[in-house]
Amino acid sequence: MDDLRDKYLSAIAEARDEATLEALRLQAVGKKGEISLKMRELGKMTPEERQVAGPALNALKGEVGAALAAKKAALADAALEERLRAEWLDVTLPARPRRQGTIHPVSQVTEEVTAIFADMGFAVAEGPQIETDWYNFDALNIPGHHPARAEMDTFYTHRAEGDDRPPHVLRTHTSPVQIRYMEQHGAPCRIIAPGRVYRADYDQTHTPMFHQVEGLAIDRDISMANLKWVLEEFFSAYFGAKVKTRFRASHFPFTEPSAEVDIQCSFEGGTVKVGEGDDWLEVLGSGMVHPKVLEAGGIDPAKWQGFAFGMGIDRIAMLKYGIPDLRAFFESDLRWLRHYGFAALDVPAVHSGV
Ligand code: DAH
Repeated sequence: MDDLRDKYLSAIAEARDEATLEALRLQAVGKKGEISLKMRELGKMTPEERQVAGPALNALKGEVGAALAAKKAALADAALEERLRAEWLDVTLPARPRRQGTIHPVSQVTEEVTAIFADMGFAVAEGPQIETDWYNFDALNIPGHHPARAEMDTFYTHRAEGDDRPPHVLRTHTSPVQIRYMEQHGAPCRIIAPGRVYRADYDQTHTPMFHQVEGLAIDRDISMANLKWVLEEFFSAYFGAKVKTRFRASHFPFTEPSAEVDIQCSFEGGTVKVGEGDDWLEVLGSGMVHPKVLEAGGIDPAKWQGFAFGMGIDRIAMLKYGIPDLRAFFESDLRWLRHYGFAALDVPAVHSGV
């Protein structure tokens, strides 16, 4: 009995895994285990012998069983320990570096412009980039023979052979959104319409696709004075300083009277600085919406009046962020994008206070 005890207790102590332990359990106390067989022999013993051997065998069985259970628990603990050690991970380590994309200056400036005009109660409207010539020209009081039509360097779409309807155009300005908005919403209204426009032109300051933002405010008694205030307010907020403006009489078919607006700047030292110096830079066209344009939008010019303006977004982006060449905006050069782009969470804006 002592031999059996020594044999199993030391084997159990040395077991390194659960499989070995299970084999030992079967070998000792399984159905055909050594101790089980010994217990079966009790029946053949004399009552006297059984009285000694019975309790001793039971005690041995209990002792081996307890040793098996204790070892099993110890092995499970060790396995868990090992797993925790192997799967340990330092959550305080910095993340692996990954190149972040940047916000394109055009997107950034569109956001800034939208936020500033939203502050003044302007909603944002949109229109299609492929327009009918009616929305792009006629409704804006630019008839077929008008020189402005030729001056716009328009891209025309192709019509099928024999289809002699006038072709659609890639909109040459955001002004058609004025008509679409008036048709849908009537007066009064106060909107800006930022978006892409297209003209067949290419040099340092012109690209075939560029961005404009249109403005339109219609009410009973809106005047040029309101236009001037809104634009001055806009430029000061956008450039972050008081910017002088100059309104020059001009002509657009869709406004009467019309004005081109310049902002104060200096060209000293080869760079443009807005808000200082004695030079002027033209940044937008504007005026009082022509009665014919109101009519085209379904609004009665005897009851309503308002102002409109159209401004180049790329232009004011170049001015604010010192970007010299417009063409680079659309070349998708990653080095340029990283240099002039904005971090997604760190963008200057009126509402972010940066
Ligand atoms: N549509 C004009 C252009 O692209 C800009 C413009 C001028 C828009 C005067 C207006 C405006 O709304 O009133 O050159």
